[in-house]
Amino acid sequence: MSERRLPWIIKYRPRRVEEIIGQEQAKKTLREWLEEWLKGRIPAKRVALLHGPPGVGKTSLVEALARELNMEVLELNASDYRRKSDIERTVAVAAKKRPLFRRGLIILMDEVDGLDPKADEGGIEALVNIVKETLNPIVMTANDPWKEQLRDLREYSLMVEFRELTNTQIITLLQRICESERLKCDKEALSYIADKSMGDARAAVNDLQTIAEGYREVTLDLARALLKGREKTLNIWRTLSGVLYAKQAWMAKKAVTQSDEDYETLIAWLNDNIPRKYSDPYDLYRAYESLARATVFLNRSKSGEWALLSYVFDLIGPGVAFARVSGEISGAKYGFPERIRLMSQLKAKRELREKLAEHLARRLLTSKRTVKNEIIPVLTVIFRNEADPAMAARLALGYKLDKEMIEYLAGPKTNDIVKAIEKIRRAKPEEVEDKKPKEDKTTKKKGGRGLDYYY
Ligand SMILES: Nc1ncnc2c1ncn2[C@@H]1O[C@H](COP(=O)(O)OP(=O)(O)OP(=O)(O)O)[C@@H](O)[C@H]1O
Ligand SMILES: [Mg+2]
Repeated sequence: MSERRLPWIIKYRPRRVEEIIGQEQAKKTLREWLEEWLKGRIPAKRVALLHGPPGVGKTSLVEALARELNMEVLELNASDYRRKSDIERTVAVAAKKRPLFRRGLIILMDEVDGLDPKADEGGIEALVNIVKETLNPIVMTANDPWKEQLRDLREYSLMVEFRELTNTQIITLLQRICESERLKCDKEALSYIADKSMGDARAAVNDLQTIAEGYREVTLDLARALLKGREKTLNIWRTLSGVLYAKQAWMAKKAVTQSDEDYETLIAWLNDNIPRKYSDPYDLYRAYESLARATVFLNRSKSGEWALLSYVFDLIGPGVAFARVSGEISGAKYGFPERIRLMSQLKAKRELREKLAEHLARRLLTSKRTVKNEIIPVLTVIFRNEADPAMAARLALGYKLDKEMIEYLAGPKTNDIVKAIEKIRRAKPEEVEDKKPKEDKTTKKKGGRGLDYYY
């Protein structure tokens, strides 16, 4: 199960350079530059700035090369170099450090285009000074290297360009994954996913996994249905940016009124993303006050006071935008609201419970209600019982429960039960098959409460 849950972008992260698709020029340039360092010659440019769109192999290449060249990677992320004092504490120290166990040390600074020049004036300057003197190679990555704040750093950097992947390249990658997962994947579906990914392998792999895990096959129809939803997410991000970065009240208002989402959804997204973007506590306080009032107005308008609705947009648009008095905003990415994620998980769980109730009701010839109120609770106790997974296993076989249903009942004990089932199957395959109809008759007499008759 844990295997299944592993995101494929991690499971299929290229381990060797040759597994990285395309980017031939970047591979060559970066390898040669690192080899210079390893030979003890400090190159003229002590920083390599890898730039290009998201999900095309920048971070993967650094990691794969480090592995092949037997170098250590010290990965820093944006929070380590937001301010001058952070930079001195992290990057400056690393720049002088000797690698402990390996041949060399690469300092990897991801997403440097997120550096905020306003947050700390001296930060970039401090970085430039370190870069001039570092004794270890520094690799930076950026989606947009032409930003004004990177101008000084660019002067000292070896620019390494990454290109967006072509559809053919992405299809190749997806096909490899389908093979290794033994998945049935339609060619048109893969081509559709590639097309929608706009050259972003990470997005494509994530989409493939979502479809595969939900449906165990990948067809064009499923891909179409899923990716429509993704466009929706993109729209939401646009709305959020419209609000959080608005310079004028009307801009924030326009962003929310033009959104296709309902008020609740917008509030949920803002609720979870405001703290990612606003860092000043007073800004946060004001933003949440505005959202809270929007929620109150929204609820009142539902009970008939319709006039209040017009304020809701003002509160979640301009209200949230102008809460940011400090002017500070972070470059952090947006996240999917926890509440919406949770609701969809609950929905999946409810659906599974329905399915299980229906399945058992049919086999036990009783009502779904009885199953839900009386049988599922008992089964849950039996299935989660530490002592005897074999008993649960026999029940699962007898009732022909599928893996999902067993998971629902057994939770963390699922694996033990699955193992016990395999053991029974191996021991007496025919007997298990023969037993079921008879058992069902027994349970029938008892009006559905035949659990204890099973043995
Ligand atoms: N060229 C590639 N070949 C094979 N897989 C790739 C390639 N590019 C990306 N991937 C897949 O996408 C995932 C993310 O790639 P990676 O982290 O290297 O992207 P990135 O360019 O650093 O993106 P970002 O700019 O968002 O940091 C990888 O784990 C891998 O599964
Ligand atoms: Mg990266």
